[in-house]
Amino acid sequence: MTQLDTKGLGSSHAATMEQAIPMTTRRFGSWEVLISRRTLSSADLANRYDAVSDKWARTARRFRLNAAYCEPLLASQVVIDLMRVEPKARILDCGVGNGSLSIALNSLTKGPADFHAIDTSAEMLVQAKSVMQHAGLNPHLQQADVMLLPYEDQSFDVVMAAHVLEHLPDPQRALAEMVRVLRPGGMVFICVTRPSLFGALVQLLWRTWAITEQEGIAWLHASQLVDVGYQAVRLGSAGFTSTAFWARRPQ
Ligand SMILES: C[S@@+](CC[C@H](N)C(=O)[O-])C[C@H]1O[C@@H](n2cnc3c(N)ncnc32)[C@H](O)[C@@H]1O
Repeated sequence: MTQLDTKGLGSSHAATMEQAIPMTTRRFGSWEVLISRRTLSSADLANRYDAVSDKWARTARRFRLNAAYCEPLLASQVVIDLMRVEPKARILDCGVGNGSLSIALNSLTKGPADFHAIDTSAEMLVQAKSVMQHAGLNPHLQQADVMLLPYEDQSFDVVMAAHVLEHLPDPQRALAEMVRVLRPGGMVFICVTRPSLFGALVQLLWRTWAITEQEGIAWLHASQLVDVGYQAVRLGSAGFTSTAFWARRPQ
């Protein structure tokens, strides 16, 4: 039976490092003026995703998310990795939304896998439960913050997040938390919005970061990960608006 645990949020709305997103810089003689914008707080973000949760299936369809995630998942070789895990691979999807990334991975894997997923939005978890079950998945769902994952160190074979880290005041802190729960040799897989016209619109509406390929690669190296790879991701008619990155925790 699908488990939906809502106790895990705990202190996850605790204060985060207050990094703001630089928007524009202007020089006036010896003066330099930087205008930056704060990201939404975890609580505000959860409320906003609660409000759009029933429309998220349409968003996922419009941007063909299931298909969009398949190509970089195949390029990352994560599927080959998972087929080698006995008896069952443990997979964690952070900021699951309605489950597009897990559903994409499940459609590519042949062997049995144990899917776990978290989200700060309770309503998104309700959507995830129904959409993932409909796709034949039986996930363990928990309301939690990617910056404070309620799991033991080194407890997953794959840890992934799609279109989540760009929302956070300190994306690298979330990545460090994802790496904490990843076993040595396991793979982290992330997909984030890149700088583009579409990215600027998302940034305006959702106060997100637009993350360059160089930044993503630098984050993975800074987390001591190896075998770093990346690929542009096409979100339907919006075009190549995102980048997927993957890397392995050293053995
Ligand atoms: C753009 S949606 C992406 C959903 C899904 N991963 C996908 O690709 O369709 C972002 C999701 O991240 C969740 N989220 C935002 N901040 C989070 C956080 N700090 N921890 C966990 N989930 C978060 C939101 O509630 C939302 O479901």
